[in-house]
Amino acid sequence: MTDLKTRILDTTALGISQAADLLLSGAQVAFPTETVYGLGADATNAQAVAGIYAAKGRPSFNPLIVHVADVEAARDMVEWSDQAEDLAQAFWPGPFTMVLPLKSKSKICDLVTAGLPTLAIRVPQHPIAQKILKAANRPIAAPSANASGKISPTSAQHVLTSLDGRISAVVDGGDCTVGLESTILHPALPPVLLRPGAVTAAMVEMVTGLSPVSSENDKITAPGQLLSHYAPSQTVRLNAVHFEPYEASLGFGDVACDVNLSQAGDLTEAATQLFGALHRLDAMNKPIAVSPIPDIGLGAAINDRLKRAAAPRDA
Ligand code: TXA
Ligand code: MG
Repeated sequence: MTDLKTRILDTTALGISQAADLLLSGAQVAFPTETVYGLGADATNAQAVAGIYAAKGRPSFNPLIVHVADVEAARDMVEWSDQAEDLAQAFWPGPFTMVLPLKSKSKICDLVTAGLPTLAIRVPQHPIAQKILKAANRPIAAPSANASGKISPTSAQHVLTSLDGRISAVVDGGDCTVGLESTILHPALPPVLLRPGAVTAAMVEMVTGLSPVSSENDKITAPGQLLSHYAPSQTVRLNAVHFEPYEASLGFGDVACDVNLSQAGDLTEAATQLFGALHRLDAMNKPIAVSPIPDIGLGAAINDRLKRAAAPRDA
């Protein structure tokens, strides 16, 4: 698993077809989505999916999101409902994942769902992700393309930082525009929000007429829900109203700091900058301190990721 020569593919027709061919041959290929880079493999090929877990060093009980090119392909794989249809029409393609009962005839291998009777499924919007999914014409399982528990990647360089030599290729499509992983929702009455993201609870309520409940106290296990996740190698101190000289500082708004998420205090800009900023601060090898981020709109998703980055780590 370690001594692969990781190829950097471009986004020309040739690059896309090479990526698709590698995926169909059972290889692991990282590619951009609008949220973060995903580490893709053929979701119907158990060995290919096992390669994802191996490359990431991910605990095998963590299930993966399957990516397809359009709503029709999603309907083939999971038990559909009127609510799922409304949500799909509103938020697909986009930074949105639904967890629905897996159809028994689906060819998705057990390793993808980690034995759960449900499947997390997403139609991403990124043009390169769309082209790769269409060219491969297969459901592609793809967690974020980083070593398990580490900071999520929003550029091809971030992918290489933790996975160079461990995967076959990365398609370099530049920086991700959203910068935070997709919202994960379990459509139900009321819907259950498993992970906050760019599609906010208020947006879900507008479509379904129901205010989603948070899964915080729910039994569904999702690794984004493991408390320590997205962890830099140094400690992270939150809600810092001033920074110590020995700290690497992450600011928000008009503050003096090493890296600023958004000088203008714009939460959308901050979301796109978050993981890149954590990568840069981590490279400074000092304890990290972070300005308070307002807990409104996208701020809820940003604070969710920061809380996990700051959580005490297991050994
Ligand atoms: O934006 C994203 O969602 C990115 C891009 C690549 O699509 N993917 C991503 O995947 O963030 P990952 O593996 O890092 O996070 C997937 C999350 C995990 O928290 C996992 O536990 C949850 O989805 N999940 C997957 N299948 C599930 C299921 N059947 N029920 C509940 N949660 C599930
Ligand atoms: Mg992840």
